[in-house]
Amino acid sequence: MKYIDKIKTASLKKDAIILAIESSCDETACAVIKGGREILSSEIMSSMTEHIPFGGVVPEIASRMHTTAISLTVKNAVEKAGITLKEVDAIAVTYGAGLIGALLVGVSYAKALAFSLGVPLIPVNHVRGHVSAGYLTDLELKPPFISLLTSGGHTAIIDVKDYYTYEVLGGTLDDAVGEAFDKVARVLGLQYPGGPNVERLAKQGENNIELPVMLKGKKGYDFSYSGLKTAVINYVHNKEQKGEEYSKEDLACSFQCSAIDILVKKAIQAVKEKGYNVLSIGGGVAANGYLREKLTLECKKRNIKLVLPEKKLCTDNACMIGAEGYLQYLNKNFADLTLNASAFVEIGKQYN
Ligand code: KG4
Ligand code: ZN
Repeated sequence: MKYIDKIKTASLKKDAIILAIESSCDETACAVIKGGREILSSEIMSSMTEHIPFGGVVPEIASRMHTTAISLTVKNAVEKAGITLKEVDAIAVTYGAGLIGALLVGVSYAKALAFSLGVPLIPVNHVRGHVSAGYLTDLELKPPFISLLTSGGHTAIIDVKDYYTYEVLGGTLDDAVGEAFDKVARVLGLQYPGGPNVERLAKQGENNIELPVMLKGKKGYDFSYSGLKTAVINYVHNKEQKGEEYSKEDLACSFQCSAIDILVKKAIQAVKEKGYNVLSIGGGVAANGYLREKLTLECKKRNIKLVLPEKKLCTDNACMIGAEGYLQYLNKNFADLTLNASAFVEIGKQYN
């Protein structure tokens, strides 16, 4: 039987074992997930150190590193899960959004593996993956809930109406919050990756530098990080030109508070407005300690249940791709072998 005919007639299993692959940026990751919520293994090889001298991810280097890392990452994930490839029921892979060359490595590998095993190929939207990290964190988590998505490429407040229907209530009009952290890190002379380094510096400072209030007077759930980022850059240049001393620690802390307080405020506002009682967060910036503490406090005050994925499930990983892949598997949202990678995919979009 031809591959595609076999897939069309594939019977679904509630406890399906999904092998998931993620290669959208600088992490080559593979995970084995059972029944959508149980992590059997999770492997990540990062090319981060290769990018440090350049101050950011160099797409060509990331792609080449994926090609050398992917076979070993998959092999390790399968071994650590204590399974054989024959037990895998489907292959999930990030097909977008991300760096096109990097995505293509994962997509090509996943296609070959799905074809050789004769199992379905499930294309996963990376951003939906970040949202689905919540399902691995709270095994009881069920929509509806609000998801606060904060990554290097996206910032959004999403109304997760059911497992498949997302309404994006608002997002960034310019830079993503992670991008702002990375750019501020650079002007403060901190190494890539910027977010964790800004957080480290901010811990030693005070929130005592006035920075512009984002979208002052505007209601709704949109964000704008470009003004805040520019204000920090201007502050540094101004001080340097005048030869004045300033505290990098205080500037990092003031920036972090401005960037994060508004996320907390709007996320909680969305939960209340929708009449929900659950907030889940995802994406690299959700690993930020200040954001986690502040959300914990504010949700507790208002009796909102907060789903806070472990830090390693917030930054890029393949577990979240497996969790989202399982939902798509249940809907038979499969691809054939013509699947291509996409640099841009809308936040809530599913493959079919
Ligand atoms: O979700 P992610 O790993 O990749 C994307 O899909 O973009 O997010 C990466 C972003 C980077 O901008 C990084 O600086 C930021 O998340 N980030 C942080 C922290 N850890 C990672 N930002 C602030 N504080 C952190 N602790
Ligand atoms: Zn991501």
